[in-house]
Amino acid sequence: MAVTKFLILLALTVGCTLAIKLPQNPEPNPEPLKWWQQEIIYQVYPRSHQDSDGDGVGDLAGIQSRLDHFTDLGVGAVWISPIYKSPMKDFGYDISNFTDIEPQFGTLESFKNLSSALKERNIKLIMDFVPNHSSNEHPWFNMSINREEIYDDFYVWKDPSGVNSSTGEPLPPNNWISVFGGSAWTYVEAREQFYLHQFTPEQPDLNYENPEVTKAILAAIKFWLDLGVDGFRVDAVPHLFDKPRPLWTQPVDPNRPPTALPSDWAYYQHLYTYNLPGVFEVLAKFRELLDIYTWADGIERVMFVEAGVPTLDLLFEYYGTKEKPIAHFPFNFEFINRVKSGFNGTNIADVVDEWFTKMPEGMWANWLVGNHDNNRVASRFSPDTGIVDAFNALVLLLPGNAVTYYGEEIGMKNANISWEDTVDPPGCSAGPDRYQQFSRDPERTPMHWNDDKNAGFSTANKTWLPMHPDYPEVNVEAQINTTGASHIKVYKQLSALRATDVWRYGSMESQAPDGGALFGFSRIYNGKGFICLFNFVDEVKTINIPQEFEDIPQNATVYSTSVGFEPETAIGSSVRTDNLVIGARHSIILEF
Ligand code: GLC
Ligand code: MG
Repeated sequence: MAVTKFLILLALTVGCTLAIKLPQNPEPNPEPLKWWQQEIIYQVYPRSHQDSDGDGVGDLAGIQSRLDHFTDLGVGAVWISPIYKSPMKDFGYDISNFTDIEPQFGTLESFKNLSSALKERNIKLIMDFVPNHSSNEHPWFNMSINREEIYDDFYVWKDPSGVNSSTGEPLPPNNWISVFGGSAWTYVEAREQFYLHQFTPEQPDLNYENPEVTKAILAAIKFWLDLGVDGFRVDAVPHLFDKPRPLWTQPVDPNRPPTALPSDWAYYQHLYTYNLPGVFEVLAKFRELLDIYTWADGIERVMFVEAGVPTLDLLFEYYGTKEKPIAHFPFNFEFINRVKSGFNGTNIADVVDEWFTKMPEGMWANWLVGNHDNNRVASRFSPDTGIVDAFNALVLLLPGNAVTYYGEEIGMKNANISWEDTVDPPGCSAGPDRYQQFSRDPERTPMHWNDDKNAGFSTANKTWLPMHPDYPEVNVEAQINTTGASHIKVYKQLSALRATDVWRYGSMESQAPDGGALFGFSRIYNGKGFICLFNFVDEVKTINIPQEFEDIPQNATVYSTSVGFEPETAIGSSVRTDNLVIGARHSIILEF
């Protein structure tokens, strides 16, 4: 019987503090979790992981030379952002050949080498797949411009809505705006029509109204499955459908941010281009294909989808149903979207409790705090990097998948990138005055391995993005070799705790004590357990744990603390649980 079946909600809101309780798995020999439910998923941004050939851009051979790092962290699955052939207008999210490797990254041969080296270490490989659009340099696009058979409506083509009376230029079909700013339509003289691009003009949207498109994309997915990949992170799925006809005008969003301009995506509601029902039909086809491979050898091929929709109810539709599953999970962006500067324990509890309360029965949660599209967590709230340990603990130890964006294990921060060095399309399209509001370059700078030139990332004189200047202190080697505490040491403790039956099958109780200043959750299994406690406010707090949480003994052992924990508390020391002091913005994990 599926383990998750037992994660049924028992108790909910108690008084005004939030609380949630999920029971432990009651079976003496519970069915083991699937690989994708328990392995930490580590996101590699390939341009920034490790450069092996000195061109300043990371590559596949580079990733392969750093496999010890994954093993050392206890990472069991690697998700690599797109490595397909690409003109790199959106750094790989613009694909010109869905079944080949970008030469900057290597060859199909280097891909196969990396893939088998990962297999030897029992690390799963997850490809980033981008079905919504191709590059404008994909041969399909040219054939579509020329109206060649099959390809004629592979993309979304529309006639101009008129001509500009003063310039004589054709006018776009409607007011649709690209996610990266500016019109979502670009005119092609040769076809005398506009094509739709929800991202850059170099990323024309594929037309999923055409069944041939789905077929072609399924063939690409099959190509990688046959090469032995374990699954896909599927990009930007709510954008897949761009109908219904006629091509209506999108209304202005009454809740748009005050800074939004009419040329910004955030200015409008995207009623006709976002999260339309057809999306689920296409994804269900992807899932069916994956399941054929899963059934053949019993090893799950997985699908994780990126769907930035406004509510959990909408997001959870991406799980599908037990009878007709779609994604293994949709990424959970709640810690990014709903936890803002000045947050406290109640905000964290809201996010955690709402997820478990609303998640459909039999489905599996997931947690993350960053990716290549969002500010790094170490910079998001304050210069206080103790927050890194707290969020790594939430991500790794709550029930569900854990997704780590490269560098989070060492607390890498956003880099300050000048306008001259800015390369990210939404940053460039916003212009020198507004680029910092949109550019994703700051969270994409190369990984810090050591204090050598370019942090050991590359021997080049210029790396594709500048290095963050703090790498001499903030790097993997320094944090491993220090005799003191470090983020990476904490991360490894968390990862070891995740690999226990208490994490796998334990109950979960979460509370936001002290009027929501604190947050904590306990996990207990067969009389053993741990509790994670977080003080998210600016004051020292004392907590009587057994008064707030059930089944907590009087004494416990300190398992891990955030870096620089106050008051000074030794790992392995025994503490009383009825009078535990936690310094401002610190966190601690006790074992019993
Ligand atoms: C997704 C990716 C983002 C990319 C966009 C277009 O949101 O995460 O990086 O720019 O899709 O493919
Ligand atoms: Mg290189």
